[in-house]
Amino acid sequence: MMPTRVYEKHNFESSLSGLKISSCGKQIPTSPVPLRSLAQRRGIGIGTAVKMQAFYSDAQYRKVLAHEFNVLTPENALKFGRLSLKRDRYSFKDADALIAFAEKHQMQVHGHTLVWYRNLPEWLTQGRWSRAELIAILQQHIDKVVSRYRGRIAVWDVVNEAIENDGSLRDSIWLRGIGPEYIAMAFRWAHKADPQALLLYNDYRSEEMNRKSEAVYQLVRTLKQQGIPIHAVGWQMHKGIKEPPDFQQIKANMQRLNNLGVEVQITEMDVGIYSGQGTYTEKLAAQADIYRDVMTICLESESCSAFITWGLADHHSWRPAFFGHPDAPLLFDKRYQPKPAYEALIDVLHK
Ligand code: G3I
Repeated sequence: MMPTRVYEKHNFESSLSGLKISSCGKQIPTSPVPLRSLAQRRGIGIGTAVKMQAFYSDAQYRKVLAHEFNVLTPENALKFGRLSLKRDRYSFKDADALIAFAEKHQMQVHGHTLVWYRNLPEWLTQGRWSRAELIAILQQHIDKVVSRYRGRIAVWDVVNEAIENDGSLRDSIWLRGIGPEYIAMAFRWAHKADPQALLLYNDYRSEEMNRKSEAVYQLVRTLKQQGIPIHAVGWQMHKGIKEPPDFQQIKANMQRLNNLGVEVQITEMDVGIYSGQGTYTEKLAAQADIYRDVMTICLESESCSAFITWGLADHHSWRPAFFGHPDAPLLFDKRYQPKPAYEALIDVLHK
């Protein structure tokens, strides 16, 4: 049975005057009704990925986070390489802090991620392991982390980015050392550790109809046929205005996943504007259109249960460091002013 998730009523519901932040005496206008209230009324979660440095050091960041979102994804704090610097030694300090914050503000936690080819501990990548040893390492990791937060982390990205763009399985320590069955094993172990958690396969460039999304579809279909507890597919949706997504294809893909009996979540959305055409204002409008259209598809679908952005404000985005150029891909600018993309989401959630 599919676990149920409730986007709890939160204590900002009655805050009809908009967000008031007293930083240097400045007030920041957002919607009179925050995103999370509107999303909750529409029956979906709305979230963002959280960076530790901003979380610890910036009160304004924490305020916008709690006010606008009801889902929180630790951007890096739950990755294997962050949790375990030495074998059998774990530090949950950052993850604990985020989860306590989420609970205080009635936010759901989206756990990211249990099995990935990146961000692994050095003790693991530098070691030489037999298949049995690798299986034991992965099983112990999943069991330790999922059990610790049993009942507190509602959703897990169990396996992240296991498929290449051409549809083949991605080379990784797990594929090489264990074989393709590591994917099914991971879902079984996660389910055993928390039978109530919603378990996702999460990937990028897999929302339109292409070789990769076909491979994701076939993977999910096979896992379901084998009785493996997989409940949802995560579409990361790292997009850009230069190549807007094909919304008909996204709808068709959403429908076929829905027909398999799995949910879809938008797990890491951002929309780069760096290489797009037009003035800055036009680029922000094009960006808003993409956010709006993806949210519309999510709301129209029976199976889309959450919409999560990969970072809160533009200066938190991973993109500049990764691509080597500036960008402004998120809902808020670096002064936490809501952008046209924010207004577009408010607008579409209101309708
Ligand atoms: O915190 C250190 C800092 O102390 C140091 O000075 C700096 C020097 O490089 O590195 C900082 O850590 C970086 C960290 O991001 C903090 O932002 C790491 O090097 C860097 O590897 C890490 O990158 C993260 C990346 O995943 C790899 O784990 C990004 O933040 C994060 O946004 C990105 O997220 C991924 C998702 O997990 C999966 N989907 C794609 C998405 C974007 O790549």
